[in-house]
Amino acid sequence: MTILVTGGAGFIGGNFVLDWIASTGESVVNLDKLTYAGNLETLKSLESDDRHTFVQGDICDRALIDSLFSTYKPRAIVHFAAESHVDRSIHGPGEFVRTNVDGTFTLLEAARAYWNGLEGEAKANFRFHHVSTDEVYGSLGPNDPPFTETNTYEPNSPYSASKAASDHLVRAWHHTYGLPVTTSNCSNNYGPYHFPEKLIPLMIANALAGKPLPIYGDGQQIRDWLYVTDHCSAIRTILAKGKVGEVYNVGGWNEKPNIDIVKTIIALLDELKPSPEGSYARLITYVTDRPGHDRRYAIDARKIERDLGWKPAETFETGIRKTVQWYLDNQGWVQNVLSGAYRDWVAKNYGDRAGA
Ligand code: NAD
Ligand code: DAU
Repeated sequence: MTILVTGGAGFIGGNFVLDWIASTGESVVNLDKLTYAGNLETLKSLESDDRHTFVQGDICDRALIDSLFSTYKPRAIVHFAAESHVDRSIHGPGEFVRTNVDGTFTLLEAARAYWNGLEGEAKANFRFHHVSTDEVYGSLGPNDPPFTETNTYEPNSPYSASKAASDHLVRAWHHTYGLPVTTSNCSNNYGPYHFPEKLIPLMIANALAGKPLPIYGDGQQIRDWLYVTDHCSAIRTILAKGKVGEVYNVGGWNEKPNIDIVKTIIALLDELKPSPEGSYARLITYVTDRPGHDRRYAIDARKIERDLGWKPAETFETGIRKTVQWYLDNQGWVQNVLSGAYRDWVAKNYGDRAGA
């Protein structure tokens, strides 16, 4: 038995591949284009593990996906691959439409053709799990209840609009063609192997380098933070027990304003790696806000808890301490990303292996 994972060299996909093999022992075919966000160094521990097959390629490449289905006959596909950074989507939305919309369409069509050719139990048990985001629901006011699965879609950024479009395609491929899909809409993840352009790893990296900690606008925007391995366990649970055609919201019940996140990171770094120049708080710098910046996200995760028995294992306090410690212990990984050396490492170590 094997599953096909897309985007498994990225932050969440990489954590998912490591977690999946460790907790289920089942093999993974990992299709990833290795954009700037894909980093095979994350999967170094699987280098000589034949349960992990890496394929460098694009989810928009229909012929490649068809060949992966026919070669590996996966029992499920878990679709992470996406352009994921809101700020990048503001500067260059085209790649977001291409990968997130066209790429998801291509995967759905390839999966439909493959699934139509299956029979019996293989056909009944096949799953297409689509990994999506809470950002599709738009922005909450201070007193609004958290997002449930029935909230209307009100995406505000090119990124969230492209993810919303992909969610709609997945829904339609189930309703029209019967493709056995599930979708999860998750809140902000944090944890190991997070690319240091997103808030938490950027703040840790900048503080350690003595650089400014850029707070967009007033820093009072609220996100709902979930430790990444809890997201992985939620997806494992949905694959095992989720109902076909259903959407599950996944979150950690951890709403925090950005400035509080940054102050928590500063307090941990002041404790674990004090700077001779004094508290890292001196580096906080308020900068011009992100255009169209959503004010608040919050997830109501009661459905997945009630129907599937999933709950996060980490609190924010335990998760953020682990995360800061991981970055302190893995400065080599961070430095290779910041210098771009991870790309050389990939070519050197995986050059011969990459390709279908
Ligand atoms: P990421 O940017 O770290 O990783 C994305 C991965 O997809 C990279 O390895 C990249 O190389 C790969 N990729 C990009 N375009 C591709 C293409 N055309 N073909 C094949 N591979 C391609 O993203 P992430 O933060 O790990 O997010 C993974 C998924 O989870 C995304 O779908 C995102 O929308 C969703 N999500 C993320 C969060 C979060 O907080 N990061 C929260 C909820 C949902
Ligand atoms: O909500 C889920 C989403 O969370 C995912 O779908 C996205 O893929 C993921 O990137 C993340 O989106 P955000 O825009 O919330 O994450 P980001 O880390 O970019 O920013 C978090 C908050 O911090 C946001 O309010 C913007 C703010 N911020 C971010 C950066 C990079 C700053 O104030 N300064 C910064 O330098």
